Amino acid sequence: MAEAEVGDDVFGDDPTVNRLQERAAEVTDKEAALYTVTGTMANQTALRTFVRHGHEVVAEATAHVITVEKNSAASLSGITYRPVPGERGVMEPGQIAEALRPDPLDVRVVDLVAVENTHQVGGGAILPLETLQGIRRVTREAGLPLYMDGARIWNAAVASGVPVRDYAAEVDALMFCFSKGLGAPIGSILCGPAAFITEARRNRLQLTGAWRQAGVIAAAALVALEEGPKRLHEDHHNARRLAEGVAEVVPGGLKPEDVETNIVFVDPTPLGMTATEAADRLRGEGVLVTIVAGKVRMLTHVDVSTSDVETAIEAWRRIASEA
Ligand SMILES: Cc1ncc(COP(=O)(O)O)c(C=O)c1O
Repeated sequence: MAEAEVGDDVFGDDPTVNRLQERAAEVTDKEAALYTVTGTMANQTALRTFVRHGHEVVAEATAHVITVEKNSAASLSGITYRPVPGERGVMEPGQIAEALRPDPLDVRVVDLVAVENTHQVGGGAILPLETLQGIRRVTREAGLPLYMDGARIWNAAVASGVPVRDYAAEVDALMFCFSKGLGAPIGSILCGPAAFITEARRNRLQLTGAWRQAGVIAAAALVALEEGPKRLHEDHHNARRLAEGVAEVVPGGLKPEDVETNIVFVDPTPLGMTATEAADRLRGEGVLVTIVAGKVRMLTHVDVSTSDVETAIEAWRRIASEA
């Protein structure tokens, strides 16, 4: 990062940012890419580019674009949603076909279908390639674009053995994050057709996300992109071990076999605790967790070692024995 060659990305002449965008386009097999400061900004830039003000997006009810971003989409771009309930975040093609049935009054119009892979609230569940292909058939028939929030698409690819470019081939555009499992401090990227990315670039500026010598952090993203995927299987292994260890001390609190990638959700109610109480007690044991969808959420990543996982299991064991 200290040695990164930089320019001014507003003028499109930061060589490190350009290298990152070219590399991301290459690995996803899309024509172009746009580096953004956050995953949320990549999603909001994509939605604003695909969807007309006042029109709707079909997405899974617990998707990040709805749960966390619906106010951003509404206030920044006049976008609302048509939510579809999924099974651990995965929507079936038939559900989407149903959701796309035209409004008899012709008042509500859908401009986009969005999927999330892996699905965060779904516990890091992978959207199977065949399901995505089925969804693609439905959107094609409806003449609609398909977008993928692939914040953790590299986890999906490593766990399933399906290359990122094969998932990407089924959608018009996708974003992924460098700042999650791949291990960079900051940054996400939106990948898609050249004309779409040109328009997205204008929209990123409107969303106040145009930046100058971003090459300093793009250098870290380049390392994350090359090195990060090589070690994600370790995170998945650690997550499964964490799930198995916690399941022993919180019977009924989770199903370890549901842990496909790097996210572990625990329902602590079998211990007679709310998620907030469990999180507070774990913090007292030196283990930091977040609360998502009313459950305790733990993630494994580059900074969580195998021995950290054992420490976390021991912390759960202590709070369970005191419950
Ligand atoms: C599925 C998904 N999409 C998008 C985001 C947004 O990423 P960021 O926190 O970089 O804005 C997140 C963050 O947790 C996420 O889990």
